Amino acid sequence: MSAFVVEPASRPLLGIATVPGDKSISHRALLLGALCRGPVRIRGLGTGEDNRCTAHAVHAMGAHVTGLAELAAARDVELTVRGVGLRGLTAPGRDIDCGNAGTAMRLLCGLLAAQRFDATLFGDPSLTRRPMRRVIDPLSQMGARITGAAGAKASEIYPPLRVAAARGPLAGIDYRTPVASAQIKSAVLLAGLYAEGLTRVTEPGATRDHTERMLAHMGAPMRAKDGVAELDTRGWDGGLDAEIIDVPADPSQAAFVLAAALLAGVERVTVGHVCVNHTRTGFLDVLANMNVLVERESMQEDGPEPVADLSMSRGAGDDLRGSTVAGELTVRAIDELPILAVVAARARGVTVFRDAAELRVKESDRIATTCTMLRALGCEVEEAPDGFSVQGMAGQPFRPARIDAAGDHRIAMAGAVAGLAASGPVRIDDVACVDTSFPGFAGVLRGLGVDIAVVAA
Ligand code: S3P
Repeated sequence: MSAFVVEPASRPLLGIATVPGDKSISHRALLLGALCRGPVRIRGLGTGEDNRCTAHAVHAMGAHVTGLAELAAARDVELTVRGVGLRGLTAPGRDIDCGNAGTAMRLLCGLLAAQRFDATLFGDPSLTRRPMRRVIDPLSQMGARITGAAGAKASEIYPPLRVAAARGPLAGIDYRTPVASAQIKSAVLLAGLYAEGLTRVTEPGATRDHTERMLAHMGAPMRAKDGVAELDTRGWDGGLDAEIIDVPADPSQAAFVLAAALLAGVERVTVGHVCVNHTRTGFLDVLANMNVLVERESMQEDGPEPVADLSMSRGAGDDLRGSTVAGELTVRAIDELPILAVVAARARGVTVFRDAAELRVKESDRIATTCTMLRALGCEVEEAPDGFSVQGMAGQPFRPARIDAAGDHRIAMAGAVAGLAASGPVRIDDVACVDTSFPGFAGVLRGLGVDIAVVAA
């Protein structure tokens, strides 16, 4: 067990930060790269444990990944996945470990549903508590045979999951997702690559569209518009091709760095080459509503994903105001809500987070863990079934506190950032989970002037 100890900020942050490659795009680069008709170079792959699980999974199914052993220690990664074509995957030889990664498990369900071999997916205790019916239902309608375990809720299905070999070709479906989830959409689209006819997914709110963008880029018969994604395999030869996939930096990790700059005070902080896909930049819109300016510079649109440098300059957090986060904005900022809650706690006025019931089934019950964290810091919060409201402390320092990350990487990092605005040290316990998404997090903050120690608990 390890812990962070963060001292109150003593000077404004300054510097240029590099954050890991986008976790969502990295999963897709590995899974879809494995289905290409030849080797695919992936540049800037995320090196967190979640992405490493996906790399090991495709490697085990015959799509060899070079440099896999070095991946854990690497910061700036280029590797090659040897694509085996849509029909080239082979049985993995042992059960597939998805670690903490819900995305890996749910997307792999879609991919495995169509294979001619059996496979079993398992994960860590947190993943083992996460609901899987959401992907099993639509995939079963397509012909998949997936079984799982019982758990907390009688109507749910939990890991480990057994995906049986497909008996024949899958059938396309016209599926309306009950919750806005890119993982459900992507699982269905992955299965849809193997299905006969048209697969259509309609979402209640537009979620991240990295799968659609990457599939279109690789030559799949993919169309996506206004929350409807369609894959029509009629007349398609099944060929997917990509020589290089560039993975931009992860906006969800950039959010922690920018929030740190806000809370500590900032001279100038820049996070380079960040994915600014509209489905991922809800947190920038929330910050704008709270009166915080984040500049976007060096915009590039040359790959499937738009990219920019994000900068914050002196005075950025001087007049923070409460705001409301609801509806499509909640969907576009879903992973950033814990850190936005910490920012909201610094503001003048109340910030209301609504339509976020999905937070209850993330790596932890993030409504509960975020509220517990804020209360420990001395902030008043009110919990609701689908969110919470935060009474901003108008710049009053947080209380020195001890926070339990509850095995959730985003709570651990949000707690660490909060420590910058406290009147004494803040300690966050159980922070090994940060390696699932942001290895080197403490070092990146230190590079900007943050006093953060990683101590053995
Ligand atoms: C992800 C989708 C989102 C997000 C998760 C990554 C993805 O989950 O919270 O961190 O890569 O598709 P849901 O699909 O459950 O909303």
